[in-house]
Amino acid sequence: MKSCATGLAVLLACFPYAIAAPATAVAPTRSESVPTSHGPFTGTPTTTGALSNSVLASSIAPLPPNPTATTYPSDGQLHEPQPAPYTPAGGLGTNGTEPIYNVRSDFDYQSLAIALYQEWLELDLFHNGLATFSEADFTAAGLTAEDRYLIQFMAEQEVGHATVISNMLGAQAPMPCAYNYPFTTVREFVDFCQKLTRFGESSVYGFLEHLDSREAATILLQSITTEARQQIIFRQFNGLFPMPVWFEVGVPQSWAWTLMAPYISWCPANQTRLAWQNFPALWILNQPNPARVNGSAGYNETLTAGMNTLSNANLTSSQACLNTTDKSNDCGPAITQNRTIPLSWPGREVRLMWDTPGKPVGPNNSYITSSQAGSAKFVAWVTQLNVTYSPLTLQSNTSNNATNGTMQMGTTIQPNVETFAGDPAINGTMFIAITDADPVLTPFNLSMINPHVVAGPALYQAG
Ligand SMILES: *[C@@H]1O[C@H](CO)[C@@H](O)[C@H](O)[C@H]1NC(C)=O
Ligand SMILES: *[C@@H]1O[C@H](CO)[C@@H](O)[C@H](O)[C@H]1NC(C)=O
Ligand SMILES: *[C@@H]1O[C@H](CO)[C@@H](O)[C@H](O)[C@H]1NC(C)=O
Ligand SMILES: *[C@@H]1O[C@H](CO)[C@@H](O)[C@H](O)[C@H]1NC(C)=O
Ligand SMILES: *[C@@H]1O[C@H](CO)[C@@H](O)[C@H](O)[C@H]1NC(C)=O
Ligand SMILES: *[C@@H]1O[C@H](CO)[C@@H](O)[C@H](O)[C@H]1NC(C)=O
Ligand SMILES: *[C@@H]1O[C@H](CO)[C@@H](O)[C@H](O)[C@H]1NC(C)=O
Ligand SMILES: *[C@@H]1O[C@H](CO)[C@@H](O)[C@H](O)[C@H]1NC(C)=O
Ligand SMILES: *[C@@H]1O[C@H](CO)[C@@H](O)[C@H](O)[C@H]1NC(C)=O
Ligand SMILES: *[C@@H]1O[C@H](CO)[C@@H](O)[C@H](O)[C@H]1NC(C)=O
Ligand SMILES: *[C@@H]1O[C@H](CO)[C@@H](O)[C@H](O)[C@H]1NC(C)=O
Ligand SMILES: *[C@@H]1O[C@H](CO)[C@@H](O)[C@H](O)[C@H]1NC(C)=O
Repeated sequence: MKSCATGLAVLLACFPYAIAAPATAVAPTRSESVPTSHGPFTGTPTTTGALSNSVLASSIAPLPPNPTATTYPSDGQLHEPQPAPYTPAGGLGTNGTEPIYNVRSDFDYQSLAIALYQEWLELDLFHNGLATFSEADFTAAGLTAEDRYLIQFMAEQEVGHATVISNMLGAQAPMPCAYNYPFTTVREFVDFCQKLTRFGESSVYGFLEHLDSREAATILLQSITTEARQQIIFRQFNGLFPMPVWFEVGVPQSWAWTLMAPYISWCPANQTRLAWQNFPALWILNQPNPARVNGSAGYNETLTAGMNTLSNANLTSSQACLNTTDKSNDCGPAITQNRTIPLSWPGREVRLMWDTPGKPVGPNNSYITSSQAGSAKFVAWVTQLNVTYSPLTLQSNTSNNATNGTMQMGTTIQPNVETFAGDPAINGTMFIAITDADPVLTPFNLSMINPHVVAGPALYQAG
């Protein structure tokens, strides 16, 4: 593997043939021996816990806005001399300095490293779905040979994404791991992909704007926009409306790590570890099931906590919406289609169950779930531009004492929030978490919710 994290001609190391090169020369993709086994990890971890260093405080204290944040007049006029014709003054990385595509801080490294864990997982996932299910299985789900080739092409995109992130990280860039998937049918696989690409995309939106390296942010943006397209295509494969929101949500890295880690069975020795947190698992007991005619009628029809992907193993033919004779509720693959019976709506009661901290999870069972929060009081709904909270009602026989080691249960009511008039905020595949407080947060500072997370996130299938 080539490292471009250090050295003089960093751009050339990353993109050796991008500049003046013979037309036939191409940059190689990262070739890494890939574990071929799948299934759970059964061994004993040789190390446990997130990567850590000395810790300066228990949380980041909130500060007032930067005093210069509001001093620009914003009146449509030019206020500074122009550095060149047709070039307004300002911007970051616009003064002609040669770009260096590398990481510049622990934050950068750890953010790109979790993105790379995700790219490797997606690469294996797309190949595994194609290898696991027969042509007849795909046909029965309404997917053709052309559709299977599209999934194959998505896997090839992941090779490119994994290579470019590896090049920016350098020699210790995380390696591909062995994975453990819960799906047993094509529709379950497609839903798993739809939900996995949702948090892969949202995790990058959560950190992109905070990277020290704006060059790395540029390359990452160019890869995550293809992941966004993948997410929409998996929605279409399962007959969901392709893009039911006006804004795509961003979430913290630890939210993505919590959702991803349960499917990583083990990683090779010497794997570079992550500093992010694994929160306790959160189940949505009445998670809307997009494989049902009446999606919201599903109960305990998810395969796992966290992603809460659909199970269609036990649906009767009259419950299933694939090939239903009721055309207004069909959910076969389509560019777009309406669902007459909504998956969810404001005012819907949502039933939740969550675990206590201290459980081993992730590669080699070597990470441990944790929470810094107090008692469970709210459900945070993180979607589009909004973080909103609904009160949590604990089930009467549930103690909210997270140290007592038993599973907790409770209910909440889906709130009625709009980003702007005409755009219900809660739609699509979105994020919920149990919290101990309801701090006012917006997309740029959402990671300040982490010390308040009791359990979750879970992906809620709103529409
Ligand atoms: C150009 O901008 C970079 C930050 O983008 C800064 O570090 C550097 O000092 C600037 N160079 C000059 C010559 O002003
Ligand atoms: C659904 O319809 C498609 C297209 O008509 C068909 O190929 C497939 O076998 C059907 N699947 C099931 C499960 O009935
Ligand atoms: C979600 O979006 C779909 C597609 O636009 C729409 O049919 C549905 O009513 C929306 N749901 C809510 C709760 O707004
Ligand atoms: C994880 O498990 C794999 C396979 O058993 C092993 O090769 C590797 O050394 C283990 N890593 C750690 C950190 O325990
Ligand atoms: C792990 O790293 C150690 C120290 O760098 C090295 O001796 C060992 O060969 C490495 N093991 C593997 C499997 O790469
Ligand atoms: C769908 O299921 C929900 C929950 O069981 C129920 O309240 C609702 O009436 C059902 N809707 C239809 C149209 O059957
Ligand atoms: C969900 O179903 C499984 C069996 O598939 C059962 O073991 C589990 O107890 C059920 N959970 C709840 C909360 O009903
Ligand atoms: C499906 O039904 C089987 C047999 O009745 C049961 O063992 C299994 O837990 C059910 N699965 C789900 C997801 O409900
Ligand atoms: C789809 O839903 C929208 C919003 O409810 C509605 O205006 C439109 O007529 C529906 N289209 C079809 C073809 O049913
Ligand atoms: C834990 O909480 C449950 C529910 O409140 C209670 O039944 C159980 O006795 C508690 N266990 C311990 C060890 O405190
Ligand atoms: C929580 O439960 C543990 C074990 O049952 C007990 O030692 C502790 O005092 C409880 N804490 C609170 C705040 O109730
Ligand atoms: C949702 O986000 C929009 C845009 O940032 C904001 O105007 C609105 O107040 C937010 N609504 C809630 C309930 O947070």
